[in-house]
Amino acid sequence: MRKFKIAVLPGDGIGPEIVKQAVKVMEAAAEKFGFGLELNYGLIGGAAIDETGVPFPEETKELILSSDAVLLGAVGGPKWDNLPFEIRPERALLGMRKLLNAFANLRPARLYDELIDASTLKPEVVRGVDIMVIRELTSGIYFGIPKGIFVDGDERVGINTLRYYEHEVERIAKVAFEVARKRNKKVTSVDKANVLEATVLWREVVERVHENYPDVELQHMYVDNAAMQIIRWPKQFDVIVTTNMFGDILSDACAMLTGSLGMLPSASIGGKIGLYEPIHGSAPDIAGQNIANPIATINSAGMMFTYSFDMPEVEEAIDKAVRAVLAKGYRTRDIYSEGTKLVSTEEMGDLIAEELKNL
Ligand code: NAD
Ligand code: IPM
Ligand code: MN
Repeated sequence: MRKFKIAVLPGDGIGPEIVKQAVKVMEAAAEKFGFGLELNYGLIGGAAIDETGVPFPEETKELILSSDAVLLGAVGGPKWDNLPFEIRPERALLGMRKLLNAFANLRPARLYDELIDASTLKPEVVRGVDIMVIRELTSGIYFGIPKGIFVDGDERVGINTLRYYEHEVERIAKVAFEVARKRNKKVTSVDKANVLEATVLWREVVERVHENYPDVELQHMYVDNAAMQIIRWPKQFDVIVTTNMFGDILSDACAMLTGSLGMLPSASIGGKIGLYEPIHGSAPDIAGQNIANPIATINSAGMMFTYSFDMPEVEEAIDKAVRAVLAKGYRTRDIYSEGTKLVSTEEMGDLIAEELKNL
């Protein structure tokens, strides 16, 4: 029997609540598909600061490096917002992505037909939306140097640097074209090449990589226009590939096409060990109330089986179970609409796990 060793990092805010539901579903999948799970829990973010004084303890680093994959909830919250920058919870996330060389962040935004009424956009605009946002995750303005707050004369200056090496663009572009080949064969590369040199280079390299993928259509789009087009007519997009920060912003926008930020899963790949987490944060405004939507996290666990374990049938089954539960009318608060049945985080997790067992 195959056995998967998974580092489970619940983190902060709603993190523990939603991760618990994803674990239920993974356990149901293990039973159904006949594989073993070794789940090892670790501290990260604010939870780690409270216990150990740092957001990304050595013990957690060792844990993830000795695992087959990582499942993460979310980190951060007002409690830790005033800490020195270098030990804020969010630093742990960046450190982990870098440590795992998880440079390609796949954020699929797919609207389930059942949730058409949950979107704030018109049904004809969102029906059938299926976009894969591919966000570069270990470089760009998040990591470029110089960075920091410096004294310059009699005032301070804050600096971050948008920086991309050719090899960094090349590898993310390859991922985008490969993914597009298995989808609708269209890549939109989003940049700001009319203003930012780093993205002039980005565009050049994407074009060069495209020469090896003549079967895939490539278009370039400026990020401001892309933000507008995503809301205007999202069905024009198949794969969107973009820089770290643009991808962060545009993927939250894409989430709303699917009804809620609580619907969008992600896979961060590129290294030996994949990282799976919802795209949303720790949602301090609803933490501890058992009302958060666990589907983004459940579907992130689903992605783990495709991208880390080459078992797409498990992701498909989890997806099917989610859809079946939505088809029966069950909704967490964020995707609730009149005539549907409001359930808690726990209930949603139970329903999906149960559905999966009975598929
Ligand atoms: P957020 O994503 O946590 O929340 C934004 C809004 O969406 C909130 O109203 C929240 O209630 C709602 N929401 C998010 N996830 C939901 C879910 N699963 N179900 C229902 N509603 C959901 O963003 P924020 O409020 O800007 O940030 C809160 C904290 O999270 C900050 O400390 C931030 O740094 C951190 N953060 C962490 C991650 C991560 O760990 N990957 C991502 C984004 C933000
Ligand atoms: C995300 C988050 C993170 C990011 C923060 C919390 C560091 O917004 O995963 O989308 O900006 O990458
Ligand atoms: Mn984000």
